Amino acid sequence: MKTIIEVKNLCKSYLSGSKPLNVLENIDLSIQQGDFISLMGPSGSGKSTLLNIMGTMDTPNTGDIWIAGQQVTHMPENKLAMFRLKHIGFVFQFHYLLPEFSIEENVAMPLMISGQSRQEAIVNAREMLDYLGMTERMHHFPAEISGGEKQRAVIGRALINKPDILLADEPTGNLDKETGAKVLDLFKKIQKDMNQTFFLVTHNDQIAKIAEINYQLDSGKLIRK
Ligand SMILES: Nc1ncnc2c1ncn2[C@@H]1O[C@H](COP(=O)(O)OP(=O)(O)O)[C@@H](O)[C@H]1O
Ligand SMILES: [Mg+2]
Repeated sequence: MKTIIEVKNLCKSYLSGSKPLNVLENIDLSIQQGDFISLMGPSGSGKSTLLNIMGTMDTPNTGDIWIAGQQVTHMPENKLAMFRLKHIGFVFQFHYLLPEFSIEENVAMPLMISGQSRQEAIVNAREMLDYLGMTERMHHFPAEISGGEKQRAVIGRALINKPDILLADEPTGNLDKETGAKVLDLFKKIQKDMNQTFFLVTHNDQIAKIAEINYQLDSGKLIRK
């Protein structure tokens, strides 16, 4: 088995007024390739903080993180941007698609930033959109498609560089129940088809159940359920 992420003794606190707010306390976590992990916890329990730290978007106070064998804790920001692009896919509650680019351009963007020619990147993006059942929307702009379609485009963009892990923070939080269920089904299909690793953050225990491995944040501690 290939270890995708290793988190060791991670702590994160914020200064709120005069005393520190300990959000994450001594977190240890190991994620293997193909794992589908959910992280539960009420609002404010630190789920997004942990996801952002694992995604190298935020730094811990103490502790170490290895992603795909590389220690990212002290990597300089200019290296991190490229590392993130190649190794980590993100899906958030809001889509952050670039409004002035078509869906196929949005999905092709990470490939072009990684150095692929536009032509090659568009071919690959179309293949991805085909897999996602989005071929008929590839020339549309983000404002012209539905919320569920936007999330599928985001998933395509997150997967296009074949990331080691896909980090999803409340990915269905902005969708109706039925559309949200379709997005979760798609995650499961992608896990199966691509042996893709998932880390899914949600405050909803029905959603968390789709994962095979379930964690909860409780007073800063990570608990396996
Ligand atoms: N930049 C920050 N400065 C101070 N406190 C923060 C900051 N970011 C998050 N927090 C606090 O940390 C706690 C955890 O936040 P968050 O990780 O967003 O929780 P969740 O995603 O579980 O709702 C909350 O109490 C929040 O107010
Ligand atoms: Mg959150």
